[in-house]
Amino acid sequence: MNVAIILAGGKGERFGGEVPKQFVVLHGHRVMDYAIKAFEQHPDIDKIILVVPANWKSEIVSEYPQHTVVLGGNTRRESSHNGLLACPANTNKVLLHDAARPFLDYNTIQRVLEALNKADAVDTAISATDTIIEVKNGVITNMPIRDYLYQGQTPQGFRYDVICKAHETVFVETTDDIRLAMEMGVECVSVAGSQFNFKITSSNDLYMAERVTQINATKTAKPLDFKDQKVLVFGGTGGIGSALVTKFEEQGALVTSVGSEIDLSKDALPETLNKEWDIIIHSAGLFIKKPFFELSIEEWDLVMAVNLRSTFLIAKLARNTMKKGGWLTFIGSSSSHRGRTSQSVYAASKAALNNLTQSLAAEFLDCNIRVNCINPPRTNTPMRHNAFPGENQSLLADPEMVAEDILRYCSGDETGHIVNLKYTSQFQVSR
Ligand code: CTP
Ligand code: MG
Repeated sequence: MNVAIILAGGKGERFGGEVPKQFVVLHGHRVMDYAIKAFEQHPDIDKIILVVPANWKSEIVSEYPQHTVVLGGNTRRESSHNGLLACPANTNKVLLHDAARPFLDYNTIQRVLEALNKADAVDTAISATDTIIEVKNGVITNMPIRDYLYQGQTPQGFRYDVICKAHETVFVETTDDIRLAMEMGVECVSVAGSQFNFKITSSNDLYMAERVTQINATKTAKPLDFKDQKVLVFGGTGGIGSALVTKFEEQGALVTSVGSEIDLSKDALPETLNKEWDIIIHSAGLFIKKPFFELSIEEWDLVMAVNLRSTFLIAKLARNTMKKGGWLTFIGSSSSHRGRTSQSVYAASKAALNNLTQSLAAEFLDCNIRVNCINPPRTNTPMRHNAFPGENQSLLADPEMVAEDILRYCSGDETGHIVNLKYTSQFQVSR
């Protein structure tokens, strides 16, 4: 049997804050939940043990009744020992992982498991990109050759009997288990880790983690089924919006699509929209391409009203009509993270959508409404053609492909995501 032990018994003193970093919520899930999910999804992991502080035990037990939950110790070493003691006697391979590393991927787990077919101890590591220097009292005392330097990560994998023996016979204080095996004279091998599998140590790392979830966002991989779901699409008559309507209808949804007949710059939405919805998508947008100094204040107000102010009405509509919870999805733009010439007001309105999404996601957690913002890349739409006539269309994303990806954020538990869609063909060209 292969066991994964997730170490979540620390206090996170360098991170600070009221809640230990592994329990901080990152896009609707605790940091620790990500690693749990990664191990759950690997077919060769037979059992998961969670090592947690005493005051978190009952909450974690009730949330993960299928896993074993044990108490952490005062040091990481003690916590991993407690995890090892909770393994079944027939444990063969054991993987110890920091709960504070949320972006563990399937392939890394696979590499560790495979290496354990030959080795007794396996570390995951990435090569050091910066020069590593040893400094004592402000003076450099050693400068090892970088070619041989790596940064160790987790999971660290062991034959179960080997790591148990190391814990019982080696008495150095250490922040990782590989050192114990090394001290015991075991040959420890390394396999490739991943740049994304960094540890959240200080509060800045959480900021990085939020950005990683944007490029690495976990779309639901389940087959889509929107049978009888009531869907309202604002902007459903143009480019991405109409592709969305088609896709939803193909999946059996009951779609109401509204276009320019509803003036989103007004102070209220028509009463007729006060119905129960499962999914509301705001895909309406106004794009005025003009140098900033030629822009009138009326144009500024109009773009802001349609693209941003309207979200006030649409989010209230969602809150008031989604009695059983649902999905509120905003369609943003790649210009939300990089404003470009002649797109000032458009870029500003779309950037605001991103932060609005995060606030609403947090506020709407209690009523089970998931709020996400999808920023499509440059897409082959009439709006785009009008603004950029003569553009090479082979560099534009296909609205159907974009719509397909958006649909994946209209089911599942993901919330608070700002998803920057990118397609390989475009990525290669735009570099
Ligand atoms: N850990 C643990 N038990 C401890 C200490 C640490 O299970 N007594 C876990 C942490 O929860 C974390 C991992 O070991 O997932 C890596 O440790 P580290 O990043 O040092 O976390 P903390 O010890 O919590 O943070 P700090 O050192 O800043 O207090
Ligand atoms: Mg620590």
